[in-house]
Amino acid sequence: MTGQPAFEEAVLLATYQVLDRSRPHLRANMISSLDGAATHQGLSGGLNGPADKQVFDLLRRLADVVIVGAGTVRAEGYGGMRLDEADVAWRRAQGLSDHPVFAIVSGQLDLDPTSPVFTEAPVVPVVLTHAGSPTAQRTRLAEVAEVVVCGEQEVDPAAMRLALIERGLPQMLTEGGPHLLGSLVGAGVLDELCLTISPVLEGGDAIRITRDAPPVHSTMRLTGLLHADDMVMLRYQH
Ligand SMILES: NC(=O)c1ccc[n+]([C@@H]2O[C@H](COP(=O)([O-])OP(=O)(O)OC[C@H]3O[C@@H](n4cnc5c(N)ncnc54)[C@H](OP(=O)(O)O)[C@@H]3O)[C@@H](O)[C@H]2O)c1
Repeated sequence: MTGQPAFEEAVLLATYQVLDRSRPHLRANMISSLDGAATHQGLSGGLNGPADKQVFDLLRRLADVVIVGAGTVRAEGYGGMRLDEADVAWRRAQGLSDHPVFAIVSGQLDLDPTSPVFTEAPVVPVVLTHAGSPTAQRTRLAEVAEVVVCGEQEVDPAAMRLALIERGLPQMLTEGGPHLLGSLVGAGVLDELCLTISPVLEGGDAIRITRDAPPVHSTMRLTGLLHADDMVMLRYQH
């Protein structure tokens, strides 16, 4: 079993592929421990495994844009959003661009323009910010990214969604983190949640997959379920 992928390609595609790519769709992909922790020792990396990585990679491959909050970019040390050769070949065969666009959501704009997120990006990244963000930092980032203002004092999720659709990026994937997911859930703009349940108990007081979100009670439908290596991969949609 070692080295063998947990899931066949056809099973992954049947579970996650969106049939009408022109229809705007915002999906999130997150991971949680059995007791609801979104992190292990401050990072999500301690929760995941090879089976979940297959889903993670497939969802990136299917996306026009991958949206990540600045807190996650800073914590997880993201590099350039570059897919491997097999994924690029698959996308070309589907008539898609080689790589999804990487979009970072930030108000403070505490992002280093010389970091690999920008310098190693195969496609110019997008920075989604608000009108109150620091002007000097906005100007600096505009040299390495397309800076898009969506909202006055915070990034308005509905305006952000619209801005990405208008840029020809209707298949939107967010990989979090919890503050960003909380704002998307609070604004009611999330279409889908792909959630991996990791087979660990974390205890402690780790954050959940949403934080700083207004209370909502929004029921979703289970539209996909895979499991391997004691992990469960769930697909829920509105
Ligand atoms: N379990 C999982 O699936 C998962 C996934 C991703 C991350 N994580 C973990 O989550 C932790 C980070 O949590 P986090 O909540 O800080 O992550 P986050 O949501 O990625 O980052 C929060 C930051 O994103 C920006 N942001 C998000 N929504 C915004 C909005 N509507 N308007 C303006 N700015 C917005 C702000 O950036 P500025 O501060 O720049 O203004 C905010 O401080 C890390 O430990 C990471 O490992 C877990």
